[in-house]
Amino acid sequence: MKTPTTRRDFIKQSTLAAGSLMAMPMISNAGFFNTSVDDAIKIALVGCGGRGTGAALQALLTKQNVKLVAMADAFRDRLDDCYKNLTADDLSDSVGYSGNVKDKVAVKEEAKFVGFDGYKKAIALADVVILTTPPGFRPLHFEEAVKQGKHIFMEKPVATDPAGIKRVLDAAQIAKQKKLNVVVGLQRHYQNSYRSLYEKLKEGTIGEIVSGQVWWNNEGVWMNPRKPNQTEMEYQMRNWYYFNWICGDHIVEQHIHNMDVMNWFKGDFPVKAQGMGGRQVRTGKEYGEIFDHHYVEFQYADGSIMNSQCRHIKGTMSKVDEQIVGTKGTIYCGAMNITDRKGKVIFQFDKEKENDPYQTEHDELFAAIAKKEYKFWDAERGAKSTMTAILGRLATYSGQVVEFEKALNSGLSLQPSTYAWDADMPVKPDANGFYPIAVPGVTKYFS
Ligand SMILES: NC(=O)c1ccc[n+]([C@@H]2O[C@H](COP(=O)([O-])OP(=O)(O)OC[C@H]3O[C@@H](n4cnc5c(N)ncnc54)[C@H](O)[C@@H]3O)[C@@H](O)[C@H]2O)c1
Repeated sequence: MKTPTTRRDFIKQSTLAAGSLMAMPMISNAGFFNTSVDDAIKIALVGCGGRGTGAALQALLTKQNVKLVAMADAFRDRLDDCYKNLTADDLSDSVGYSGNVKDKVAVKEEAKFVGFDGYKKAIALADVVILTTPPGFRPLHFEEAVKQGKHIFMEKPVATDPAGIKRVLDAAQIAKQKKLNVVVGLQRHYQNSYRSLYEKLKEGTIGEIVSGQVWWNNEGVWMNPRKPNQTEMEYQMRNWYYFNWICGDHIVEQHIHNMDVMNWFKGDFPVKAQGMGGRQVRTGKEYGEIFDHHYVEFQYADGSIMNSQCRHIKGTMSKVDEQIVGTKGTIYCGAMNITDRKGKVIFQFDKEKENDPYQTEHDELFAAIAKKEYKFWDAERGAKSTMTAILGRLATYSGQVVEFEKALNSGLSLQPSTYAWDADMPVKPDANGFYPIAVPGVTKYFS
């Protein structure tokens, strides 16, 4: 990914996630930021890309006494870009936000760690860690943060394969025993409109949920072409979106948000899935091994259904949304309202009351940590929603009915045997640079 040079580039690349910083209030270089590192809640950032930069800023913009003290990234250039953005005099140049947080950045040169092992050293220096690498590394990094007894903000998805989910679930139990706050970046849980719709659901407004429809359809994301002299590992790391061991396919990487909403409202996770998908447009070798569309029918234990569709194809209908259908009414998350069975709006969330959930998830996490409260244990829910999305991928890749528990307990891992620049990669290009692609009916996971 190229270095963001203009404000627009940065916002575009950084996924400061859906304009989340744009909505933030102004801050000044107020004196209360000038506290010593010793008094502050110390933060380490692992994964200094677009989202890592955004999450670090959001952590530094909370009302608590916080300092960023360590950074780790696989690549020096990514770490340097992030540091430069976080220490800028005026963030309006980079993120369209007036003010700065540079007084809260106290990362000495010796606390900048580069490579695959830097995460351990960065985590050791902090009270709270922000885990924002691509998701393939999340189980490893989460396990380490829990082992070292740190509070955690980690981005979704939390893994890319069932073996990774198991590791996160196991570490989540230990995090609970240690009373470590864990927030997962499924930010709709921290968004006022969703929280309000969920309350209405609990009041019985739509009756019993019978089905749901969830979408992540848009044009797709960035792609980083291969450069001369890259090892296969470096290429796949730089172009990570298109390799399943590190990304999980877009059904996992992005569509998880929408499936997670249905799981949340349903209060359960699907027991099985079947579906279809393929790559029809995004077929070049630079797009690795992932599909460009998936359609999955998930079934919950009580027989209710979630229909999920995700598509990355230019020129097609864009829609990122969720609709939850009950016996008495329907929740429309995008429209933030509820209708009765005849279509009459019976509840409308006041859009003026919407918040920036990316900021709220940090505000709430850091407030709890400052008060020494144990309030957040998102890891298990995040892991099971990630597993839902992985289940969808296994279903569309194989064309078979795949059961949640069977897949979860399968031990299936997509990871390389070692994380090193010369690693023997789990997927390799053929002589023409093309990667093997799943073929429904041929690709098999479980007998
Ligand atoms: N909640 C949301 O709405 C939201 C929005 C955007 C991104 N995200 C999530 O944030 C994560 C990162 O996405 P991004 O857009 O910032 O990607 P990115 O490519 O911009 O950043 C990832 C960074 O991690 C680094 N990295 C990779 N492997 C590493 C390792 N082993 N150790 C240390 N650093 C490593 C990369 O070099 C890069 O700097 C993804 O899981 C993504 O799904 C969430």
